[in-house]
Amino acid sequence: HSLKAFNTFGIDKKSRFFTQAGDLDSLKKSLLWAREKGLQVLILGGGSNVLLTQDFPGLVIKIELKGIQVIQETSDEIWVEVGAGENWHDWVLYALKHNWAGIENLSLIPGTVGASPMQNIGAYGVEIKEVFESLNALDRESLDIVSFDSEACQFGYRESIFKHELKDRYVITSVVFRLQKEPKINVEYGAIQETLKKNGVKDLTIQAVSDAVVEIRRSKLPDPREIGNAGSFFKNPTISHEQFKSLKTDFPSIPGYPVDSGVKVPAGWLIEQAGWKGKKFGEVGVHAKQALVLVNYGNGDGKAIQELAQKIQDSVLEKFGIQLSPEVNFI
Ligand code: FAD
Ligand code: EPU
Repeated sequence: HSLKAFNTFGIDKKSRFFTQAGDLDSLKKSLLWAREKGLQVLILGGGSNVLLTQDFPGLVIKIELKGIQVIQETSDEIWVEVGAGENWHDWVLYALKHNWAGIENLSLIPGTVGASPMQNIGAYGVEIKEVFESLNALDRESLDIVSFDSEACQFGYRESIFKHELKDRYVITSVVFRLQKEPKINVEYGAIQETLKKNGVKDLTIQAVSDAVVEIRRSKLPDPREIGNAGSFFKNPTISHEQFKSLKTDFPSIPGYPVDSGVKVPAGWLIEQAGWKGKKFGEVGVHAKQALVLVNYGNGDGKAIQELAQKIQDSVLEKFGIQLSPEVNFI
């Protein structure tokens, strides 16, 4: 079964078997079937954060569990349970329509709701952990549904327990978000303020914030329907204050933002300075407007992207002494 239409890089790899799970029963049946046959299982949402480097010898299950349900409400807050297979941006639009605040800064992130806790998606000053109440997940061994609160998920920057200790152990089936009826607008991110100002926006609504985020994203990130990509390929590294100070002497324009454990440096800047921005190598390359995004121009291979990523890592390490780690999940 071709997976080309099921990953935003548009890599043309195959899986031996493929199915979609629209309800819990069929999800359990598919897991049991794979177990009987001794097959590996790959859970897929929108395929917007994976790089397929080879054919998958087992069963791919695409999560299609739907539904949006209010489960609790007070005068100023609302708790909403959303099915893992709901499209993330459609859920953001739904919340905007109901004037529920908290996820407007996360507009236009591709993929599904079920994958959002995997790496604690974040953008423009907000991460989902700030609006996350809990999630429900199916234990792939016992087939029981287990609930995880925020602490149990061990969220970090582009991290959760599901990428580490509990990797491949659970299928996330729904996520409960806690949203605000009285918005706390977050426009700390400079680019949002600039865009609002440029557009002469006076009324600071969550819709205005969402519109600004959409405009910024469209101006630099490639649309996967036109050019294959998975967003940022690497994470932004955090280095020590000492290392940052010494790099500042050699590279006075190096940007950096203080965080708890040191200084966070934009990987896009490092990659651009190392000379990769806009470079094309056959069918793959580095996006011209955002050096952190690796792209497939059409018929690129996952292995070619992987090799390019390795070369970029080597050159950034050599030039700056900084090791970049991938954000994308290699399959
Ligand atoms: P997939 O790619 O299908 O899966 C990702 C991983 O999660 C895989 O390991 C998969 O096995 C696992 N998985 C998926 N669903 C489930 C489930 N229900 N249960 C258990 N495991 C599951 N990310 C950000 O954080 N911020 C951004 O600003 C951002 N911008 C992007 C822009 C573009 C143009 C693109 C293409 C990607 C961007 N991303 C961004 C990355 C991506 O959108 C997110 O990581 C998204 O949450 C992935 O969702 P998905 O459904 O496509 O996951
Ligand atoms: N920069 C360059 N050259 C480039 C790209 C970036 O010099 O080609 C420098 C600039 O100094 C710029 C800074 O990097 O000011 C930051 O760039 P940008 O605002 O585009 O954000 P980013 O750090 O590259 C991160 C996330 C994005 C998220 C945006 C907005 C990571 C790995 N990436 O990108 O998330 O949308 O911030 O919050 O943290 C994703 O995870 O897939 C993703 C797209």
